[in-house]
Amino acid sequence: MPTITVLGTGYVGLTTAALFSAAGMHTYVVDPNDSRLASVRQGKSFFYEVGLDPVIAQAVQTGMLIPTNSYRESVPHSDFIISAVGTPDNPDGSSNLQYVYAAAREAAAHMQPHAIYVQKSTVPVGTGNHIAKLFAEAGVHNAYVSNPEFLREGTALLDSLWFDRIVVGGNDAAALERVVDVHHIVEKARGAIAQAAGINPPTTLPAGSYISTSLESAEMIKVVSNAFLALKISFANSVGILADTTGADITQVLAAVGADRRIGTAFLQAGRGYGGGCFPKDVSGLIAAGLHQGVQLTIMEAAQEVNEAMPGYVVAKLQNALGGTLGGKRVAVLGLAFKAGTSDCRRSPAITIANMLAARGAHVSAYDPQANDEARGLLHANVQVQKQYDDALTDADAAIIATDWPAFTSQAPAEFAKHMAGTVFVDAMNCFEPASVQAVGLQYIGIGRKAA
Ligand code: UDX
Repeated sequence: MPTITVLGTGYVGLTTAALFSAAGMHTYVVDPNDSRLASVRQGKSFFYEVGLDPVIAQAVQTGMLIPTNSYRESVPHSDFIISAVGTPDNPDGSSNLQYVYAAAREAAAHMQPHAIYVQKSTVPVGTGNHIAKLFAEAGVHNAYVSNPEFLREGTALLDSLWFDRIVVGGNDAAALERVVDVHHIVEKARGAIAQAAGINPPTTLPAGSYISTSLESAEMIKVVSNAFLALKISFANSVGILADTTGADITQVLAAVGADRRIGTAFLQAGRGYGGGCFPKDVSGLIAAGLHQGVQLTIMEAAQEVNEAMPGYVVAKLQNALGGTLGGKRVAVLGLAFKAGTSDCRRSPAITIANMLAARGAHVSAYDPQANDEARGLLHANVQVQKQYDDALTDADAAIIATDWPAFTSQAPAEFAKHMAGTVFVDAMNCFEPASVQAVGLQYIGIGRKAA
């Protein structure tokens, strides 16, 4: 079995390290952040991800997963060094690659000649060639493979174990094959890993294909995939705003539009817009990389503009329903994470909505089943974070579903109505049936949906 080093304990790095170690490969996971390492040692990730903690706990206990802050302790023993360090964005929207290059430089000082350097961080085209130059300057000539990651937060284990595609790109065919072989090891173990994680395999199995490409193509595939999904969402939101003026129901429209197999229904749900650590950054990164090359991606600029306007659109609807003013109104914001199934609040439209409401003088009471702690540092000082959703709803003039957690969507609308003082119910995720909400005396306000 090969030995692996994963650089970075973020969403991608820690999930990858957990799965590789659970599949029977000794895996070092390297991070300079001691509190993150301490958490891994205790069998926990620093973020919430379904099924991940039991896998980490077991792998740490059996000694297969080794958290460390030392390249010297890990990299020289490894056949594969997988870079999954952060790529924050610069103020101009371009990707900040300082951690990517620093990791490559430090690994270069410790790699065995046969080791393959695998890039999982989302990086712009040209990064691989730049790293090859850094390696040459350091006197090493290790193979470099781009292996973009497509996992979604909240379904990270499922997405990685039952994948649509694994993409490997580079100039060294033998190295590409070796990277594919490592993934085969994980694929073979996926049933047992899912069992340890306590998650069920999907009912319909995805294609599970392995795709080998050039280095530049692999680098582009990840960003272009995310850009297209972001485009679909902004398209859904644009026509959702149009539907608001026509009386059509956008959920009916897009369900039928998406029934065309050429279009598909996935990522075609209108709502308060996309957030998270990937889409906003990947879209701005692609726009910036395009401009750098003299190519203006007008279509992505438009997608970004639409998305950035969505929280304001939602807040305006709420404000209108409350008679045009938010000052002194009590508003319950249910959901703060950028999507259900995660504690991640990065670029969360739900946080933007809560903050806009507070900035306009509303008394905001917010609750999230997993993200309360992460949200606190990002929220306006006047947003009260509650321990229970019914505390957030108590005496509210209006409630807004800002993230579609099952804890909310599984409730009968009467459950919300009974705690509230007012009747305004904004479904910013279009996840309730208007008629069922109106039946309990609440006023239904969705995105692109006429009240029944
Ligand atoms: C995304 C990609 O899906 C994944 O392949 C990549 O590796 C990382 O980026 P993630 O950011 O975890 O994953 O979340 P995702 O499930 O894609 O959702 C992104 C955002 O889009 C969320 O805020 C979600 O609420 C929003 N969304 C999604 C919509 O507004 N409408 C939709 O129809 C789908």
